[in-house]
Amino acid sequence: MDPVAAGTDKVVVPEGFQWAPIIAWGDPILAGAPAFDFDRQTAAAQAGQMGYNCDYVGVVRNGSANQAVLVVNNEYTNNDLMFHDYAGATSMTDDQVEITINAHGMTVVEMTRKNPNSKWVYTKGAPLNRRITAQTPFELVGPVRGHDLVKTSADPAGTTPVGTFGNCAGGTTPWGTILSGEENFNGYFTQPAAPGTDLAGQGAARYGLAGGSSAQHDWDRLDERFDLTKEPQEAHRHGWVVEVNPFDPSAAPRKLSALGRLKHEGANVVVASDGRVVAYMGDDERFDYMYKFISKGTYVEGDLANNLTLLEEGDLYVAKFSGDGSADGLHDGTGEWLPLVVDGQSTVEGMTLEEVLVFTRLAADKVGPTKMDRPEDVEVNLVNGRVYAALTNNSRRTPAQLDEANPRASNKHGQVLEITPSSGDHTVTGFDWKLVLVCGDPDDPETYFNGYDKSQVSPISCPDNVAFDSAGNLWIATDGNALGHCDGMYLMPLEGEHKGHLQQFLSVPAFSECCGPLVEWDDRVVFAAIQHPGEETGASTTNVLSRFPYQGNTQPRPAVIMVWPEAKGGPGKGSSKAA
Ligand code: FEO
Ligand code: CA
Ligand code: CA
Ligand code: CA
Repeated sequence: MDPVAAGTDKVVVPEGFQWAPIIAWGDPILAGAPAFDFDRQTAAAQAGQMGYNCDYVGVVRNGSANQAVLVVNNEYTNNDLMFHDYAGATSMTDDQVEITINAHGMTVVEMTRKNPNSKWVYTKGAPLNRRITAQTPFELVGPVRGHDLVKTSADPAGTTPVGTFGNCAGGTTPWGTILSGEENFNGYFTQPAAPGTDLAGQGAARYGLAGGSSAQHDWDRLDERFDLTKEPQEAHRHGWVVEVNPFDPSAAPRKLSALGRLKHEGANVVVASDGRVVAYMGDDERFDYMYKFISKGTYVEGDLANNLTLLEEGDLYVAKFSGDGSADGLHDGTGEWLPLVVDGQSTVEGMTLEEVLVFTRLAADKVGPTKMDRPEDVEVNLVNGRVYAALTNNSRRTPAQLDEANPRASNKHGQVLEITPSSGDHTVTGFDWKLVLVCGDPDDPETYFNGYDKSQVSPISCPDNVAFDSAGNLWIATDGNALGHCDGMYLMPLEGEHKGHLQQFLSVPAFSECCGPLVEWDDRVVFAAIQHPGEETGASTTNVLSRFPYQGNTQPRPAVIMVWPEAKGGPGKGSSKAA
């Protein structure tokens, strides 16, 4: 494989590969939903159509290898690109406000293909198709269910939060459910001007909920719960990891309080050697932390009822990284998972279990974890058993705040961190760690590509999402390339002769971000979510900077795409050829 050159408003794939959109914003998924019509959008239509800005991509088999269910997060909306004459949130009609509400959340859709060499096609009106929006009722499960901190006037029992939004990355569990991280939920609320002095007030300050701003998209115009001056506890019902069973469209999606409340990037689950499951998680904010959850119960292959309880009860830890000095030429060292919850009890002085879980950032602050450069996707490589975290950037780190895991001031380009659990056991608290990739221009002496010859590698900036193919190669998608070209997807072997040989696999259209990635089970298909094409200051429906993904589009539309070989073979095989 030859690495691609960066394109403009194009998807650029390596020679020998092709790409196609599978589903784009507005494509109808529910029976009766109308075809997308940019000039005649309605909230009712949007509730049955694919949502806006797609981020996490999960694909689970649905019977045969040619049938699958696609689950996609719809993180946020670009209203200036959705509506003509948009002039701020208050310029929207009530129906447009509700369109934005319904364009958030998640999209679940069945898809089929003729054979492993053909394109995946989604099926309108299929039984498992589902939209989850900012208006969908959820079940709150785990220790916080029914607690006073999550009661509101609309839900005095504190059990049924409504809606999910700001959902970024996610994970697919070993039992086939999809996890999705509620990340930048704070901006959706009208906020008090100043935090209170009680724990909830400190929490509001720590989670960006007390800055006096108005609700993004004016959602509180239609639903008072989005005004925290009237309904302060509504904010405690967001910022969770949610779990969706794509095979049971009638079951309420669930919010998992045992995994803590953060600006959750996502969560990825691995089964440990003793059968307990471990979820790794990042809290995406400058100077925030990495977490892991260890279930109380154990995984039983094929027992869905049992496995659906695993993320309801367990222990919670936050990461501390110690460096061994950079004189050895490596950013590496040892680390420790510091407990916040053990055996169902808070281990944090002065905080109850429920307080630790609702105000997890405040709890973590008390135990001295390492302040990271925006922890995004954290995922286990099932081939080598190690954990990889994308630390995307941190413009605010000062020279006085450096540590070996976060070694650059004004960090524009980010790094990828590898964790090796002690004795290979994900349930223990000790680990070794190493930066396997310090991103940027390879000519920059501070960059590092796992020891590979830097004259042979692609420039990379702002790693966001990570994934692995069946050979254990690391795939990275970027967001916010600070090297001045388009975002994309990259591939880096982690073992062997070509360990560290990072190559760009995909370049995405103008002003978009590359999400996913997902390498399908047989390594023949790479999925990507192309988020916010055309997003730029000054862009509008008349000043269009992208027409992705369809020829003839008048407007850009976020979409899930697939990339696959023109001939028999596969991206995994292509990568090993390169290696
Ligand atoms: Fe939505 Fe952390 O990126
Ligand atoms: Ca070192
Ligand atoms: Ca992300
Ligand atoms: Ca991932």
